[in-house]
Amino acid sequence: MRVLGIETSCDETGIAIYDTETGLLAHQLYSQVAMHAEYGGVVPELASRDHIRKILPLIEATLAQAKLKSSDIDAIAYTKGPGLVGALLVGSCVGRALAYAWGVPAVGVHHMEGHLLAPMLEEQPPEFPFVALLISGGHTQLIQVDAVGEYTLLGESVDDAAGEAFDKTAKLLGLDYPGGPRLAKLAEQGQAGRFKFPRPMTDRPGLDFSFSGLKTFAANTIRAQELDDATRCDIAYAFEEAVADTLVIKCQRALKQTGLSRLVVAGGVSANKTIRKSLDSLMQKLQGQAFYARPEFCTDNGAMIAYAGAVRLAAQQFESLEIQVKPRWPLDTLSQLKS
Ligand code: KG4
Ligand code: ZN
Repeated sequence: MRVLGIETSCDETGIAIYDTETGLLAHQLYSQVAMHAEYGGVVPELASRDHIRKILPLIEATLAQAKLKSSDIDAIAYTKGPGLVGALLVGSCVGRALAYAWGVPAVGVHHMEGHLLAPMLEEQPPEFPFVALLISGGHTQLIQVDAVGEYTLLGESVDDAAGEAFDKTAKLLGLDYPGGPRLAKLAEQGQAGRFKFPRPMTDRPGLDFSFSGLKTFAANTIRAQELDDATRCDIAYAFEEAVADTLVIKCQRALKQTGLSRLVVAGGVSANKTIRKSLDSLMQKLQGQAFYARPEFCTDNGAMIAYAGAVRLAAQQFESLEIQVKPRWPLDTLSQLKS
């Protein structure tokens, strides 16, 4: 079965074709980052309009890359939520309507289930069960994953998501949106030990996170300093180290609580090299294993939606002709796969 995947939940238009027999055939991504950078963040209305402009040319380009015609597509998967309502509506309307026109089934995919399953596209995919750490621009969650659709929320951020904290702190350091990867670049030249940021909510039991205090701590540190290049790098280093340490402490707790030995790390922030290194050494210490998607599939993309859609379609899960999006959609309300 060849599934066309469509992702438009935020500021990237992602299209991919996944074949359940042979794997990923093609994928294309158009990022709106440059357009939103001017405003310091995503402008929802502009995001929707740009998805409208880009989506059909990108679908054509993806079909051409796979050397396929529309009649070779057996089903369409599109992101149904969570995300920006206008952006979701573009992908959902185009996806559902194309499936109707082509006479193939459609399925609406949960964006975070897409992220969670993205490591399944790698050569050595994780086996179930595992603990998943989802770290993106909008979510920070620890989840026990027993199978596709069998999700138990273990903990989550009570305020800012990890990616949001990266972006806000990056802004304070004078970096353009989205600042996460740019802050990570600065941190590479930072010196250890000059600044010490807190490890929020690690001094009490539980698996919830809080990242908004780190941004405030960064703001106060910046105010007290002469902000030269070296200082910016050192602050970026200390911030990133604090996030990585906090994630390590909470993941270790989650693995202990569940008795599991596999950790899947997904979402945009899982592209961060320092965080990967810290979690890898934790898993080495615990004699377990960490799994990630390749960096280009950590951030939003069509491949993860095509894959997650293929899994749902194989379990006979289809969308009706009534087009629906779910801007808010808790992951642990998803249905289990029918056997
Ligand atoms: O998963 P994603 O593409 O979109 C959402 O579903 O939110 O995640 C985007 C987030 C942004 O906050 C971005 O700054 C962050 O992931 N990000 C990073 C890195 N790459 C992306 N944060 C830290 N280090 C990175 N290398
Ligand atoms: Zn995402």
